[in-house]
Amino acid sequence: MSLREPIPPDFPGAVMFDEAEVESVVEVIRARSPFRYYGPDLRDKVSAFEEAFAKMVGVPRCLAVSSGTAALIVGLRALGVGPGDEVIVPANTFIASAGAVLMCGAVPVFAEVDESLTLDPADFETKITSRTKAVMPVHFGGISCAMDEILTTARRHKLWVIEDCAQACGAKYRGRRVGSLGHIGAFSFQINKLITTGEGGAVTTSDPRLYERAVRAHDHGCLRDPAGRVAFDTTEEAFVGENYRMNELAGALGLAQLTKLDLIIDRMRQAKKAIKEYLGNLHHFQYRKIWDEVGDVARRLVLIAETAALAKGLAKTLIGMGFAAEVPYGGRPVYEHSQIKRMRMWYGEELAKGEVRCPRTEDLLGRSVMVGLSPKFTPTHVEQLAEAIKHYDRGA
Ligand SMILES: Cc1ncc(COP(=O)(O)O)c(C=O)c1O
Repeated sequence: MSLREPIPPDFPGAVMFDEAEVESVVEVIRARSPFRYYGPDLRDKVSAFEEAFAKMVGVPRCLAVSSGTAALIVGLRALGVGPGDEVIVPANTFIASAGAVLMCGAVPVFAEVDESLTLDPADFETKITSRTKAVMPVHFGGISCAMDEILTTARRHKLWVIEDCAQACGAKYRGRRVGSLGHIGAFSFQINKLITTGEGGAVTTSDPRLYERAVRAHDHGCLRDPAGRVAFDTTEEAFVGENYRMNELAGALGLAQLTKLDLIIDRMRQAKKAIKEYLGNLHHFQYRKIWDEVGDVARRLVLIAETAALAKGLAKTLIGMGFAAEVPYGGRPVYEHSQIKRMRMWYGEELAKGEVRCPRTEDLLGRSVMVGLSPKFTPTHVEQLAEAIKHYDRGA
């Protein structure tokens, strides 16, 4: 199929950069104050970003950090997750979700996803043991997990809930933004995400104690005095932390990007709506299940094919046209990464024994096709994409 218009790059936040980002960053550079806690003329960009981000999510507290992985590690450490603990993670996710658990010395235990490609609440419950400390629902590809069911089960078993919101900044579940539903929310602002600071992340929470622990975990275990200097700590609450601080340049970008989040979501939702209207029902593909359609940020169009060969074929066709299409993670669950396998064994064969298998996830992932949507899509892009999918489905 010939292309009528080149496809915009699949970086929703970055393609929206304009003078607002430039001015915000230049202000920091001109002030020669790139460090968040002090400097010759501190602009307080990170603090302002934290305040605005907390407001967007609908929680009292946000801590900006250096990446989404950092947000997960800091969040887990705030919850006290460590050696001997298990954390339930969906088998479909980016490596960082499981990696963060391992980096805290705990063991990720993998649960199936369902037709939404997010954590299956029923399978999550079957994976709970006496060692389970937390569950990490991952809001995969712009949609919320089935949070009512997950939260109810977590409450019943007295588990912490840390939401991995890396791929779903701004998504809602029953009117509430993700990151405000569990005890902790973890966000990423890497370039593939809805808004970007190049590298960056955020931890959100409504719990002041968890917030304080997150601050410590991200800054050498320290709290700072009003001048931004490390306060000497002799309290019982102190523990050793690392350095996952966000810098002022990232904060400046984040502030400018955040003002565009709703516009980005709005445009991608419109594109997705138009594509679905054009496609109607397909012969060989179904849409993935979405628990809350209204809350979908429409970062991705996800289709589930009758067979893995059909999914692969459609992805190849769309890639050939320049769309950001893929079988998610090559159709392979996260536990298949050899570093995850190895580290699970290091942390105790007792905890990590046996071959991990989530057969339903393996089947669903292999049959899925995920296409990136962009706030820069024009009606022509929408039509090109929809036409190509329809054409492939008819010919299959
Ligand atoms: C689900 C998920 N969790 C965590 C991360 C880690 O974020 P970062 O790359 O900012 O460390 C990502 C993205 O990269 C992700 O997709």
